[in-house]
Amino acid sequence: MKNLSFAVATTPSVETKPNQQLAVLLAVGMSIALVCMSGCGSGSAEASSTPGAGISPQQFADGVHAVMMADRTVYATHVVTNLKKQEAPVTADEYWEDSENAIPLPAQMFRMGAELVDKNPQAGFTYSLRSKWPLNEQHQAKNDFEKQALEFLDKNPGDNFYGEEELGGKKYFVAVYPDRAVAEACWSCHNDHPNRGESYPEFAKDDVMGGVLVRVPMP
Ligand code: HEC
Repeated sequence: MKNLSFAVATTPSVETKPNQQLAVLLAVGMSIALVCMSGCGSGSAEASSTPGAGISPQQFADGVHAVMMADRTVYATHVVTNLKKQEAPVTADEYWEDSENAIPLPAQMFRMGAELVDKNPQAGFTYSLRSKWPLNEQHQAKNDFEKQALEFLDKNPGDNFYGEEELGGKKYFVAVYPDRAVAEACWSCHNDHPNRGESYPEFAKDDVMGGVLVRVPMP
């Protein structure tokens, strides 16, 4: 992963509208696909790490996001919800570390994974969970870019948000994906949680509950 070279040098800046960003990225993605059709299929095992023929930051972010969401869905559906259905003595509990017969919540699993990736210099990216309606304040948007992304996901269910951000003088490609109520445990636990404020939504199946943010440093 260290040798990833990014083919997209012209990702749009934060100032453009998300829809425009999407359109530009789609156009860029399509031109890469066209170029690749005529030149990338060398059959070499090293093709993906050859400078100039590398995957785009968006393809990279989409790929790592697919893996993390698959794990998140499987944990929430086949572990957390399944334990509940079986009326098992073990439950997913926020205070799992200090409780008996308790396992971490899906969001805590996610955060612990993100912290390990953060510490791994070979990972080449970071990720986090955010929401307009955080039960834990740590998950609220940290800046205007993140606010804009969460607003976009809320208004455009089904779409992802892509953009570029500068932090501490360094440029990042940032992808933000909707985090949906994929298992019954998601909405039943959030809707009943004591931390929910007065304006907290009543979540139902497939609702966007927040956003998963993947941040990839640009070369
Ligand atoms: C048993 C309770 C429970 C279950 C099940 C659960 N959550 Fe949460 N969720 C929480 C709590 C509590 C937090 C805050 C946790 C923390 O301290 O990090 C949280 C955090 C989140 C956040 C970050 C924003 C916030 O509220 O702090 C999102 C988004 C989220 N959950 C979505 C989901 C989704 C999607 C699922 C199903 C895949 C799910 N949750 C399952 C209780 C739950």
